[in-house]
Amino acid sequence: GEPVKVALLGCGTVGAEVVRLMREQEADLTARIGAPLELVGVAVRRLGLDRGDVPIDPSLFTTDALGLVKRDDVDMVVEVVGGIEPARTWLVEALRSGKSVVTANKALLAEDGPALHDAAAEGGADLYYEAAVAGAIPLLRPLRESLHGDQITRVTGIVNGTTNFILSRMDASGAGFAEALDEATALGYAEADPTADIEGFDAAAKAAILASLAFHTRVRAADVYREGITEVTAADMAAARDMGATIKLLCIASRADDAVSVRVHPAMIPRTHPLASVGDAFNAVFVEAEAAGQLMFYGRGAGGAPTASAVVGDMVAVARNRLAGVRAASESAYADLRIRSMGEV
Ligand code: HSE
Repeated sequence: GEPVKVALLGCGTVGAEVVRLMREQEADLTARIGAPLELVGVAVRRLGLDRGDVPIDPSLFTTDALGLVKRDDVDMVVEVVGGIEPARTWLVEALRSGKSVVTANKALLAEDGPALHDAAAEGGADLYYEAAVAGAIPLLRPLRESLHGDQITRVTGIVNGTTNFILSRMDASGAGFAEALDEATALGYAEADPTADIEGFDAAAKAAILASLAFHTRVRAADVYREGITEVTAADMAAARDMGATIKLLCIASRADDAVSVRVHPAMIPRTHPLASVGDAFNAVFVEAEAAGQLMFYGRGAGGAPTASAVVGDMVAVARNRLAGVRAASESAYADLRIRSMGEV
């Protein structure tokens, strides 16, 4: 078939790995899709930066992301920049004009997912975002497709790798929070400004996306009760250990009747629970459904290559849909569920 033309917005750690996978697997991807994926432009904030060891034709780079999105020869827009604006403007523009979008932007989806879904419906385009939650772990597609014959009652997850690394260190070595955070920073797990991770904002955004998909409703990051891990002490961890438990930062989304509750906070869990053995910077999500029973998804939730794996998987799905002339089933929220306040829980 004709090449499917891709515009890449952002070329940092994840973007460069996306290009690498596209290159390294070119023959396989072409066979799986039935047509080649062709990179036609890469939008970056600044030209001339070193993009690691993935050679990209310099003529593909532009600083005009919106101009790239609007180009007639673009079929698919892949966004790995993050943040609300200007990403929202770019993606709404793409979707409305019928260009399918693959994004890893959890902040935008959690803040304004409905605007993106509405734009996708308007333009007849696809919107895929497997990489937005728990990186490489195939999780959103199972929630949005495979479990559609069932009723999900509860989702319990460790969805932030940085805080899981910190809490795992505190558990293993008896270190305090500050010391474990320093270690996470030195090893490159925590970012220079770790606020979004340690205060639970990153997990809350992911929890909102998970709850929206699991319960077919609209949950925004602001609806999520949130507590970070900065107050967890070495003494708390020791006390948990004495009780045969450990402390994890959990996101817990549950549904009862017509109401949903979604929260992120440190919680004690017994060592016998499967989530207790999730160490290092791994992620894991435990799903309970009426017919399926208990399911667990486990793997790497961050990092360039794992995140790129999810992004390129979505690109294949979008390209196949495009060639088949179909779009993924609409994900518009159809269940009108009340969000429970913490006072009720
Ligand atoms: N800061 C995030 C984490 C990156 O630690 O899990 C992946 O979203």
